[in-house]
Amino acid sequence: MAEVTFDYQNLVEVEGGLESRELDEARPRLQEAVGELLESPPGFMRLPKTGEYAEASVRVAEEIRGSVATDFIHVGIGGSALGPMALHRALNHPYYNALPGEARRGPRIHFAENTDPGTLAAILDIADLGGTWVNVVTKSGSTAETMANFLVIRGYLIDALGDFGYQGRTIATTDPEEGFLKQIADREDLKELPIPQDVGGRFSVLTPVGLLPAAVTGMDVEALLAGAARCVDEVNEQGAEHPVVVGAAMYYLMDTARGRNVRVMMTYADALERLAAWFVQLWAESLGKDAKGSTPHGAVGTTDQHSQVQLYMEGPQDKVIEIVEVENHPRDLEIPKAYEDLEGVGYLGGHTMAELLEVECDATRRALTEAGRPNATIRLGTVNEENLGYVFQALEVQTAVAGSLYGVNAFNQPGVEAGKQITYSRMGRPGY
Ligand code: PA5
Repeated sequence: MAEVTFDYQNLVEVEGGLESRELDEARPRLQEAVGELLESPPGFMRLPKTGEYAEASVRVAEEIRGSVATDFIHVGIGGSALGPMALHRALNHPYYNALPGEARRGPRIHFAENTDPGTLAAILDIADLGGTWVNVVTKSGSTAETMANFLVIRGYLIDALGDFGYQGRTIATTDPEEGFLKQIADREDLKELPIPQDVGGRFSVLTPVGLLPAAVTGMDVEALLAGAARCVDEVNEQGAEHPVVVGAAMYYLMDTARGRNVRVMMTYADALERLAAWFVQLWAESLGKDAKGSTPHGAVGTTDQHSQVQLYMEGPQDKVIEIVEVENHPRDLEIPKAYEDLEGVGYLGGHTMAELLEVECDATRRALTEAGRPNATIRLGTVNEENLGYVFQALEVQTAVAGSLYGVNAFNQPGVEAGKQITYSRMGRPGY
């Protein structure tokens, strides 16, 4: 059973926090927003209970894992990359690609996301092209960054494996009916996985976009979906009383009524660092419209206690800090007793690294609360597939509900079009 809680107590109880009157006033709009979400659910709400995407992804993953696969290059950007990157960082060994083959749960995984040639060249330095699979992920089928990375990798694979070898090792994860990647896949007879038409990139982690790389690296995709399904069931049962739905209203009010227009997600686990990056895109691209929306920012505890917490404690009163805490770390290390005569060092001996992390997390929360700095906590029992599935789904629900409260369409991104048009024109794309 998923063990995840969303605790917003310190948005209310902190000095200057939200008043119950404000929440009561927001309730009718919140009920309307969650009513809309449940009555005409957007595509992402049905994903946890749609087995077909998991089945198709696992089928392709098994073929890859059953071959002599040394490397898996996931090509995609934005919503086509951040979810899989979050899963990889959370659930695979942090030095996964450096582990010997027998210690890994699948081929090495690489993400070709940006168009920085240094990164792509480095991936191509490492990948053993004889055992490389490439997964090209783009819903629109024409994102310049993704197609450019693909074209370069394709050239290398054709040189190494010939046309037939390249075609057999390439997956096109894209719109099932239209787009240039779909045309290429049909023309070259590539393996295909669908990105459902009613699911936007940043809501697509539970489609083949996230499920294939998860399955390739040995994750339990059923558990991932089960955690997300539990969230959907709870939101259906509890409606506007569900904590993440109430949380949507709280973040909305903190921004619009209190001027707290920065939402910091501070993960007290290195493994969750990319979860924050995934969330930053989800919140920013969904809500930043019509001169509305609050600014999401990612931070890592304890590391950023030595970088940003000074600002959070004493800087402008424009932030809400959301701590993401893990109760049971998968590994722990005891700190040996040493230098017991030195009071500034000796006290550490006999404790554990996880204990220090937990104590520092709690200390930061308390210090923020005592300083009148609103904060919230997302608590995961452990970092596993089921809990992550729950968290992905819950934050997507919260973002969609917040979109209704702000009165913006959470599912489009018109603001990124202008830059794309200029790029197409400068790069000589016909018609631009
Ligand atoms: O969330 C979104 O819709 C975007 O971030 C897209 O995922 C991103 O622009 C990449 O688009 P595509 O999958 O079409 O290549």
